[in-house]
Amino acid sequence: MVIKRAIGNLIQNCINHNEQGCKIYVSVSAENSSCTITVADDGIGATNEQIEKLNNAPHYMVCDVNVTEQRHGLGLLIVKQIIEAHGGGLAIEHSSYNGFCVKITLPMYMAGQ
Ligand SMILES: Nc1ncnc2c1ncn2[C@@H]1O[C@H](COP(=O)(O)OP(=O)(O)O)[C@@H](O)[C@H]1O
Ligand SMILES: [Mg+2]
Repeated sequence: MVIKRAIGNLIQNCINHNEQGCKIYVSVSAENSSCTITVADDGIGATNEQIEKLNNAPHYMVCDVNVTEQRHGLGLLIVKQIIEAHGGGLAIEHSSYNGFCVKITLPMYMAGQ
């Protein structure tokens, strides 16, 4: 499943970008009609500028899928596109553990509603 792969890649990012190691915190919560999946770490994190850039990168910067996949798995911007294609959203933030955090929100469709 593509969402599972996307989350696997966020976890892999925590590992790849923290050579000295880090704790990884994955959580899921549901409110009303949406579900939020958070992958956070207590590693080196990123600067405000990096975070701003990643959150606002236009989709044409998502260039060569194959090259990116060979290197580090799906890139963040590709993961963002996948989530948006599922009607959800992705936000990159500082984590409350002083590291990096990616928050995915997906709509939930309840039977009978
Ligand atoms: N968990 C993380 N901790 C610190 N920086 C991160 C983390 N995840 C992503 N980044 C930063 O965001 C950039 C973009 O991530 P990504 O698109 O997955 O590219 P890649 O992992 O191939 O470098 C990374 O190059 C890195 O600078
Ligand atoms: Mg990566």
